[in-house]
Amino acid sequence: MTPEIHHAEAFVEDALALVLAEAEKAYRARGEFRLSLCGGGTPRPVYEALAVASGPIDWAKTVITFGDERCVPPDHARSNYRMAREALLDHVSIPDPENQVLRMRGELPPTEAAAHYEETLRSHANRSGEAIFTHDLLLLGMGEDGHTASLFPGTTALDENDRWVVANHVPKFDEDRITLTYPLINAARHVCFLVTGENKRPVYEKIFASTSDDPAARISPGDGRLTWLIG
Ligand code: 6PG
Repeated sequence: MTPEIHHAEAFVEDALALVLAEAEKAYRARGEFRLSLCGGGTPRPVYEALAVASGPIDWAKTVITFGDERCVPPDHARSNYRMAREALLDHVSIPDPENQVLRMRGELPPTEAAAHYEETLRSHANRSGEAIFTHDLLLLGMGEDGHTASLFPGTTALDENDRWVVANHVPKFDEDRITLTYPLINAARHVCFLVTGENKRPVYEKIFASTSDDPAARISPGDGRLTWLIG
């Protein structure tokens, strides 16, 4: 799989077009669009644009997951869910949020939250007869340290090859997180990094040159597409 690298002229518009194109493809193929949202600040304007987008998004046929979450309550300022709710979820009509918006329970003890999320994904996968829950589009951000989701350098989650979701302590923030693991991320049909900021250029350029051992460099969807949208 060769990554597709796009230096966006219009980052938000290009990201939105990519999401809508994947949605349309998924509805046609399977009658459902599974979209994983990343946290941080970069994706917020994309989510805000998605909230008001006309065109092929059908929220009744869309399932939202999260790539990672901080271990905080859903209304906490650091919650990725709260950011997605404010930017997108509060502004669109999702008929069955309980089963369509799969929130990581950041308020639970970390290992319990991870086990709950894995159980949730497994029940969806079992219903569809899948060996592994397969996202249609999985959005990821990247930090200056080369982390993605909550797969941070030197943390235990990097070595997880079986579970789909784990708790991960992040020493640099002295914070517990819940994160999807490489097996689940790399099972996606399409993974798209959304990255802006000159400060990240040295990091992704090393990844593009295949000279990086950062966590983000290990994202490699086996049968899927990998896109880097650089703003
Ligand atoms: C998180 C994210 C994380 C984020 C990167 C980039 O919970 O923080 O999942 O992986 O995507 O840190 O964050 P920015 O977009 O804010 O630079």
